[in-house]
Amino acid sequence: MPLFEVDPDIRKAKTLASDFYIDPEYFEISKDRIFSRFWHFLGRKDEFETLKPVNLLPGSLDEPFLLSRSGETVNCVSNVCTHRGKILVGEPCRANLIRCGYHGRRFSLDGKFLSMPEFDGVKGFPDESDDLKQIPLETWDGFLFASLDPISAFADLISDALECLTVLHTSEVRFLAKREYEVNAHWALYCENYLEGFHIPYVHKALNEVVEYGTYSTKTFRYSSLQTGYEDGGKIAAEYLFVFPNLMFNFYPWGISVNIVRPITPSRTIVEFLTYVSDERLMNKGAGADLHGVEMEDEAVVESVQKGIRSRFYKHGRYSPTREQGTHHFHRLISEFLG
Ligand code: FES
Ligand SMILES: [Fe+2]
Repeated sequence: MPLFEVDPDIRKAKTLASDFYIDPEYFEISKDRIFSRFWHFLGRKDEFETLKPVNLLPGSLDEPFLLSRSGETVNCVSNVCTHRGKILVGEPCRANLIRCGYHGRRFSLDGKFLSMPEFDGVKGFPDESDDLKQIPLETWDGFLFASLDPISAFADLISDALECLTVLHTSEVRFLAKREYEVNAHWALYCENYLEGFHIPYVHKALNEVVEYGTYSTKTFRYSSLQTGYEDGGKIAAEYLFVFPNLMFNFYPWGISVNIVRPITPSRTIVEFLTYVSDERLMNKGAGADLHGVEMEDEAVVESVQKGIRSRFYKHGRYSPTREQGTHHFHRLISEFLG
């Protein structure tokens, strides 16, 4: 018997039971069964020289890693020294090996143990546990993704959705800015709001002037979904690609806004907005113009839902079959991976 059941037929289905958002146990289980099994965004491949410390989902998985480049190859290795556990590298830097600043243990850029002072005579040393653990790292059009224990390759995870994406232009973009939002709500409430355009006319009055409600479309794939908003006249205003469980790639005429949803507690979430531009002159026009204003409107409803789902009178809702396919699909994936 699965922990949470969501019927595959959207017309029969009930939304995820509110316990999922409220009970801290499910929050913890989700780290292992969902966040450890999927991919985490680590910026652009060309954003650093040799070594760059990164954290895999800070505040949640909180695992220190190191992106390390040797030639054309980039690896993702543990940033924790295998001797007594010091963090190896604190700031992005250039180097031709990794040297621990505590007792001088040295590693190659791909994490292999090289040498250690004062260890002569230590039995069975070194062995492979003295190397830095390397985890799977993949590139998609210049963006890097890593995973602790992936259910599949990242390329396979998004291949079906990419066939339907029309405005892919990630290779031409450059990083412009990062902004963090703190939302007083469960991470999944933030995602499921993102996954439907149903609320646009009610919540986003200004955005609703730009995006036509009648033609707004949602397509779902195995592990992702794609929403497309059109302007009057049929031109694409924005494409919103969601990759389960927490990555959002928003394609606008000016470039891409990447949003990363980071669970902190069952009622607190950080959302990172990373702006990558290809044509800055288009930033004040259309659906991608006032992202901060839209975010404020979204946060207000999501935080209101966070309060509402705690009610003893609320357990489940139902779905609109024409407008909430993305949210239904997301809930189905959560119930699948929670087991
Ligand atoms: S902790 Fe790194 S050498 Fe001792
Ligand atoms: Fe919204």
